[in-house]
Amino acid sequence: TRIAVFISGSGSNLQSIIDNIENDNLNCEISYVIADRECFGLERAEKHGIKSIMLDKKLFGKNLSDEINAILENDTERTDYIVLAGYLSILSENFINKWNRKIINIHPSLLPKYGGKGMYGIKVHEAVIANKEKESGCTIHFVDNGIDTGEIITNVKVPVYENDTPEILQKRVLEKEHILLIEGIKKLLEQ
Ligand code: GRF
Repeated sequence: TRIAVFISGSGSNLQSIIDNIENDNLNCEISYVIADRECFGLERAEKHGIKSIMLDKKLFGKNLSDEINAILENDTERTDYIVLAGYLSILSENFINKWNRKIINIHPSLLPKYGGKGMYGIKVHEAVIANKEKESGCTIHFVDNGIDTGEIITNVKVPVYENDTPEILQKRVLEKEHILLIEGIKKLLEQ
């Protein structure tokens, strides 16, 4: 089974996938790492000999996902599933429909709370703290045509402490993401 991993940032979630595959804890291979901008995650892929492609969202605009689909569909080796791991571009309706129930996303909150447009990265944790939540966490869900709205596959909770800063909370959640993502991919591969 082959998965493409889409990234936009440091790629620590991608690194968790790579590590788990390499230590035989995850039975699949990565067909492509695809980024919508220059980012450190591309270096992680290259270091592990994984095919990586950067398609600049500033150049492709709304055609970005159709360009990605052309690459995946024309490749001699097929891609079975797509994992969005800190990917920040919106996929077109056409793309979502072609890959129906084959795309999962990891989001750093307990969806449906603190999801949607503009809710990504540190912004999520700032909002959780501003609202004095007692707990937060991360969620794996199927990607549908909304933003962070698809059917939830699994989630995990973390406590929010009185004097947490957004950075401290982000670190606590990110550590859980790295574990939850592997569980989510296993469920995806089992379906
Ligand atoms: C992080 O904010 C993480 O919570 C979310 O996407 C961002 C990128 O993480 N899933 P990384 O690029 O995998 O380190």
